[in-house]
Amino acid sequence: MFIGQLLNPGGALPIFNMDLHHFVRRIKDKPELSSLDDGFVLRLLRNYLSSNPSFSSALKEHPSPFRSALFRTMLKEIRRQLREVYGVFQVSLHREKMLDNLLSYVSLSKKFDEKSLDFHQRLLSSHKSTKERLSSYNLLYKKLFPHTHPKKILDLGCGLNPFSYPYMGIDYVEYFAVEASSLDCLFLQRYFDGVSNFCGLRGLAIHANLLDVPTFPSSDVCFLFKVLDSLESLERNITFPLLSSIDASFFVASFPTKTLSGKPLSKKRLTWFLSFLDKYEEIEIPNEVFYIFSKSSLRKTKAF
Ligand SMILES: C[S@@+](CC[C@H](N)C(=O)[O-])C[C@H]1O[C@@H](n2cnc3c(N)ncnc32)[C@H](O)[C@@H]1O
Repeated sequence: MFIGQLLNPGGALPIFNMDLHHFVRRIKDKPELSSLDDGFVLRLLRNYLSSNPSFSSALKEHPSPFRSALFRTMLKEIRRQLREVYGVFQVSLHREKMLDNLLSYVSLSKKFDEKSLDFHQRLLSSHKSTKERLSSYNLLYKKLFPHTHPKKILDLGCGLNPFSYPYMGIDYVEYFAVEASSLDCLFLQRYFDGVSNFCGLRGLAIHANLLDVPTFPSSDVCFLFKVLDSLESLERNITFPLLSSIDASFFVASFPTKTLSGKPLSKKRLTWFLSFLDKYEEIEIPNEVFYIFSKSSLRKTKAF
């Protein structure tokens, strides 16, 4: 595929001879980005090129675009965006071994006990968001599910959050875990399949790009933990159509209260999000604020 086709998918002729799959391979040529899907990266590339038309024409005229300074700038900027939404959260790249250990242990012990919790904690510690939440999970789920337990959970942009199941105190649950990377989905599915005989977790990992506003199974609760900021940074105003499309009784959306470097983030910056809601409850844990709201509290149209 060539840049001209990407910007003008129906057009017959490439605007210039630049192989985008080569570009995508170059972007992904970093360990922390290598498990992302080509389609996901390609979409970002398309957004980037259409919002920087001068780049496309300058590259088009360059005799060897892949060697140009412009190309390097573009490569750097797209990698920065991808790191922000994906790569920066990957703390450890040795998860397969950790999962092997967890599954071998559980298949011998045939239950989730204290020791299996250690294996879960190691996996949760391999992703920045779940690592930060580790000491708060017990309290968080007690507050989220004070009386009734959900039977179906939809977790959008789930990262490794499904590994927090042992903290939920739920005997039986159907868990739909949605992620942008197909490799991450295979990894999550291996966990779901490996533990289903020994606990009440029945999981399905769903590979999808939330920017496409896909259709998902209905659920009692939809988690959107630390994902809406990332989505908005990739495509502004995607949140409202996404929330409106989801069939869930209630939602839990969270946002960081500190930057990745530890500086406080004001909650005022979330006014855009809260303006979608008539009513909500707020829970705060270190570094993160959660908003709980029902589908019926979602305004029929955007407030601005
Ligand atoms: C900050 S992490 C949060 C992970 C998890 N929700 C948590 O809080 O533990 C954001 C996650 O959203 C996923 N993500 C970002 N953009 C996405 C998209 N367009 N479609 C699906 N998943 C996406 C990333 O892959 C990443 O795992």
